[in-house]
Amino acid sequence: MPDEVPNELPHHTWFLDKHKFIETNATLLLVLSFLVVTVGGIVEIAPLFYLQNTIEKVEGVRPYSPLELTGREVYIREGCYVCHSQMIRPMRDEVERYGHYSLAAESMYDHPFQWGSKRTGPDLARVGGRYSDDWHLDHLRDPQSVVPESVMPKYGFLENTIIEGEYVQELMETHQFVGVPYTEEMIVNASADFRAQADPDSDYDGMLERYPGAQVRNFDRQPGISEADALIAYLQMLGTLVDFSTFTPDASR
Ligand code: HEC
Repeated sequence: MPDEVPNELPHHTWFLDKHKFIETNATLLLVLSFLVVTVGGIVEIAPLFYLQNTIEKVEGVRPYSPLELTGREVYIREGCYVCHSQMIRPMRDEVERYGHYSLAAESMYDHPFQWGSKRTGPDLARVGGRYSDDWHLDHLRDPQSVVPESVMPKYGFLENTIIEGEYVQELMETHQFVGVPYTEEMIVNASADFRAQADPDSDYDGMLERYPGAQVRNFDRQPGISEADALIAYLQMLGTLVDFSTFTPDASR
């Protein structure tokens, strides 16, 4: 040991004695720890009560059309989320495989959200437009006919289940109740818009005005609206609302 280092305790260790007093007094230690955690908690939580919104607004994001919303119900009912996620993480392998990472705004009208936690199959957040309707029909009927090694179950019964959309208005009212900004006009036109989107011969201009970018087609190629129509309408719009050639993240947030 060099000579210049003093042998006695340095002068500034007086606080160690005080701290020893706190550490050997369990009640005082608990009370003081509680105070520290409370202050830390308030600092983190209190600002959230004064923010209008924690989600950056993004152009193009709109509530689901009645047909898409119905398809989303089929997706949830059939448990597609058990094998498929809908959230592209901002990592290189994900972005190269699936496209631009998911934005919070893209699932802001999802109640409940469909991010998922398991990927037995690929992420579906941007599957819209990646395949034709015919591909989806074949794939739903018999996934192994297009991807031989697939473990996805067959969903051929969906195209045989005709739906009338008699509950779609209530469904939209429920979503409105939990915060989706469906207007009265959208609610009143719910079942008309539901039918218009699956019928290219209908008068769908009003529907398109209410739901910009909605795709109008006979998705399952057969008369009548089936659950496959609704599900494919939903799959084909996933991840297509935001134009990423013009999107720039808001750096101020
Ligand atoms: C048991 C797990 C499982 C379930 C449940 C499941 N899938 Fe899949 N899915 C897969 C697997 C595995 C693949 C990859 C092989 C293939 O394309 O079939 C896949 C692929 C897909 C693809 C093609 C994705 C791409 O980018 O190539 C779509 C679309 C799809 N599934 C939709 C659905 C829908 C809609 C449902 C619910 C009706 C569903 N899946 C239910 C396992 C599942």
